[in-house]
Amino acid sequence: MSATLPSDGVARAGREEAQRGAETAMPQIFHRSFNVISRVSIFGAIFFLVALGWVGAKTVRSPSYTNAFTAVEQPVPFSHRHHVGDLKIDCRYCHTAVEESAFAGMPTSKTCMNCHSQIWFRSPMLAPLRESYREGGPPLEWNRVHQLPDFVYFNHSIHIHKGIGCVSCHGRVDEMPLTWQVHTLHMDWCLDCHRDPEKHVRPRQQVFNLAWEPPPGFDPEVYLKKYKVKSKTSCSVCHR
Ligand code: HEC
Ligand code: HEC
Ligand code: HEC
Ligand code: HEC
Ligand code: HEC
Repeated sequence: MSATLPSDGVARAGREEAQRGAETAMPQIFHRSFNVISRVSIFGAIFFLVALGWVGAKTVRSPSYTNAFTAVEQPVPFSHRHHVGDLKIDCRYCHTAVEESAFAGMPTSKTCMNCHSQIWFRSPMLAPLRESYREGGPPLEWNRVHQLPDFVYFNHSIHIHKGIGCVSCHGRVDEMPLTWQVHTLHMDWCLDCHRDPEKHVRPRQQVFNLAWEPPPGFDPEVYLKKYKVKSKTSCSVCHR
């Protein structure tokens, strides 16, 4: 173990011990303390490798690698800023399942055509929409903005039901011309809120209101109690 030289003091103490050991007719080439030191240095090396791996993992999972904060191109340049911000269409008009199921649900071409069979019908921008609305036409495939790995279980309805607003996880979608992800969706992000949901709880009727701010004197405890919020951090909650 020449990789880590013991400090002079330890070395000297070691030599003296070794000499004394030799005098007692039990020749000891390395003193016990060297064992400790070599064990420490092996441990140090392992620790170093683990730390290196951790830094690597952090880099790979940093937002720039997981697509967060980058607007995602779509076959039709649908704008939440326009449809939600300006036209004030409710989330549930298009994401119809968000209150009852794990999956929020995505609008079909028919939902868009409720308006666009009248408005902007001939716009080239809407060509893929018209195509997909045709009898037997290809469905409109939206590119995913958020995507958890398969081994993670997520459910929209429980979050909505417990008074967690869309904005806590998706940000100000109503200001986005194209949609992007505003949080990493990493495990520690989920856990931060599960440990401390009071920063996020709101009255249920404000869940879809992205602009809602707690009024002065707002007491989250009231809603934590009212909705019986008990967010858990045990592994099986999200890894089933
Ligand atoms: C008029 C229909 C419509 C309304 C209303 C609407 N959305 Fe969407 N939403 C879409 C479409 C279409 C997409 C797919 C294109 C995209 O990602 O921008 C989408 C995508 C999303 C995504 C990204 C999905 C993914 O791939 O990860 C989020 C998050 C989202 N919407 C949240 C909201 C919220 C929150 C509201 C209400 C404040 C809302 N939407 C209202 C039509 C709508
Ligand atoms: C409730 C009515 C309504 C629904 C539903 C609706 N739109 Fe629109 N959309 C409009 C209006 C109004 C405009 C703006 C027209 C204008 O400004 O002249 C618009 C504009 C657009 C534009 C032009 C670009 C922009 O935003 O300025 C696109 C693209 C578009 N919509 C796509 C969609 C898609 C895709 C869907 C279905 C997911 C959809 N719309 C659903 C009413 C609607
Ligand atoms: C607690 C955080 C959280 C809240 C609150 C939340 N979402 Fe999501 N949303 C997510 C995550 C995480 C995903 C990705 C799910 C996946 O990949 O399986 C997602 C995905 C989506 C998608 C894509 C389709 C899907 O279900 O995978 C839409 C649309 C969406 N959210 C809309 C909404 C709307 C509308 C609201 C408010 C009513 C809302 N979300 C509230 C975390 C949240
Ligand atoms: C902004 C706060 C917040 C964020 C972020 C959040 N959660 Fe939650 N989550 C909650 C609350 C509050 C509950 C409800 C707990 C209860 O009372 O049962 C919950 C419940 C759940 C449940 C249901 C638990 C059960 O008992 O069945 C699952 C699964 C879950 N969350 C997964 C996730 C995952 C995965 C993420 C990250 C991608 C996430 N959550 C991010 C607040 C949050
Ligand atoms: C609130 C939801 C939630 C809980 C609780 C949770 N996880 Fe995760 N976990 C996630 C999400 C989301 C990911 C994927 C995103 C990521 O890479 O962080 C993940 C990823 C992982 C991974 C893959 C490696 C990685 O970091 O990418 C492992 C291993 C893991 N979790 C183990 C655990 C263990 C062990 C526990 C219990 C102590 C646990 N998780 C509890 C949400 C959760």
